Amino acid sequence: MPLNIIIGAQWGDEGKGHITDRLAHDAAVVARYSGGDNAGHTVTIAGEIFKLHLIPSGIIHPGVLCLIGNGTVVNPAVLLREMDALAARGVDVSPERLKLSGGAHLITPAHIALDQAHERARGKEAIGTTMRGIGPTYTDKARREGLRAELFADHDALAEALMAHVAAKNEALVGGYGEAALDGAAVAAEFAAHARRLAPHLVDGPLLVDEALRRGAMVLAEGAQGTLLDIDHGTYPFVTSSSPTAGGALTGLGVGPREVDRVIGVAKAFTTRVGSGPFPTELDGAAATRLRGTGEKPWDEFGTTTGRPRRVGWLDLPILRHARRVNSLSELVLTKLDILSGLDEIPVCVVYELDGRRVESFPHDLRALARCRPIYEMLPGWAEDVTETRRPGDLPDAARRYVDFVAAGAGAPVSYVSVGPGREQFIVM
Ligand code: IMP
Repeated sequence: MPLNIIIGAQWGDEGKGHITDRLAHDAAVVARYSGGDNAGHTVTIAGEIFKLHLIPSGIIHPGVLCLIGNGTVVNPAVLLREMDALAARGVDVSPERLKLSGGAHLITPAHIALDQAHERARGKEAIGTTMRGIGPTYTDKARREGLRAELFADHDALAEALMAHVAAKNEALVGGYGEAALDGAAVAAEFAAHARRLAPHLVDGPLLVDEALRRGAMVLAEGAQGTLLDIDHGTYPFVTSSSPTAGGALTGLGVGPREVDRVIGVAKAFTTRVGSGPFPTELDGAAATRLRGTGEKPWDEFGTTTGRPRRVGWLDLPILRHARRVNSLSELVLTKLDILSGLDEIPVCVVYELDGRRVESFPHDLRALARCRPIYEMLPGWAEDVTETRRPGDLPDAARRYVDFVAAGAGAPVSYVSVGPGREQFIVM
C-alpha cells in the first residue's frame, strides 16, 4: 500500500477534508505536508461539523495515526486549541494518535505581527493573506533562521532561540513598520508552556512515514490550499508561501516519487478564490450570490479560517489542465455538484482568449492571466436535486454530461463526485 496524495486543483477550499475523511478509512497514516492554520477543513459527520486548521482530517477516524509533517508551519497555540476542542468532543488527540514532526517550523506571535504589518504596508497591493504569520515563517525557514518544533524537547534552547528571535523581529516591527515591540520573555514563557504539552507528540516524520510504507500500510498526504496558491506553480505573487502541489507532498513528508500511487486532485464544480489577484471566470452580483450562498449554511462560500466571502466564478478548464500537469493527477474529485442544480445552462470555460489568440494552457505570467478572457461552452443544466443521489446511473443526464465534459476537458478521469456536505453524500464514478 503506497502513498496517496490529495491536492487542491484550484485556489484552495475545494473540499479536500471531505475526501480525505472518506479515504482515511483505509489509511494507516494521514499527514499534512505543507501550510499551516491558514487552511480550514470542514468535515461533517452525522450532522456534526468539525472545523480543522492544522490537524489532519484523519483524526476523526479512530485508529488512524495523524502526522503534521516537516513541510508545515505550526502555531502551537492554535494547535493546542484545536486539540482541546476535539478532545472536548471525545476525539482522541493523545500523543499515540497525533504526531508533530520535529522538522516543522514554528509560527510565533512575531511572525503574525509581521504578516499583519507587511500587509498593511502593502496597502492596495496587499496579497490578502490570512494574517496567520505564514509568509514570515516560511521566509525565516528559507533564510535559515527558523525555529523548528524539535526545540520543544529542549527548554533552554527554546527560550534562548525565542529571545533572539523576538529581539530580531522587534527591530523590523519597530524600526521598519513603526509597530509596538513584543515582549521576548513573555513569548518564551508562553512557548515553554506549549512545549510541555507538545513535546510528547514530537516524532521524526520522514521515519514514521517510511516505516508505515515499508510495512505495506497506506499513507494519505492531505493537501492544504491548492495548486494555484503554490509558490512555484500558482498565481505568483498572489500565492501562499509553501508548495501545496504534489511535489510539496514529497519534500514536505520526506519521501521520494517512487512511493506514490494516486494523486487525487480535488476541484469544485465551479471556481472560488479568496484573496487578491486575477480570476478569469469571476462573477459578481446575483450570479455570484447564486454560487456563493448567503452565509447561512456552513458550506456556503465564506472562508473557514477568515469568514471572508469567497470570490466565485464558473468552472475553468485551463486551470484544471494546469493542475493535472503540475501534479501528475491520476484522477479528479468533483465537489459541490449539487450547487449547480436548478440552473438552465451552465457555462464552462474551455479556453482563454489572450490578445486575440485562443490559448489552451494557463499562463504562468500574471499580467497575461489578467488579460485572459474566458471562452465558454454552454452546457445544459438540470432541475433535479441530486443531494440524495448515490449512483452515477441515477444522476440526471445533464449532470452526468457535465461530469464527463469536465473529465474530458481536464484530461483526467473523475473518480468521485460529492453532492452535499455529509460524509455519505458521495458518488463513486
Ligand atoms: P497566506 O497563506 O496566509 O500567506 O495567504 C496567501 C494567499 O493564500 C491569500 O490569498 C490567502 O487568501 C490564500 N490562502 C491561504 N490559505 C488558503 C486556504 O486554505 N484556502 C484558500 N485560500 C488560502
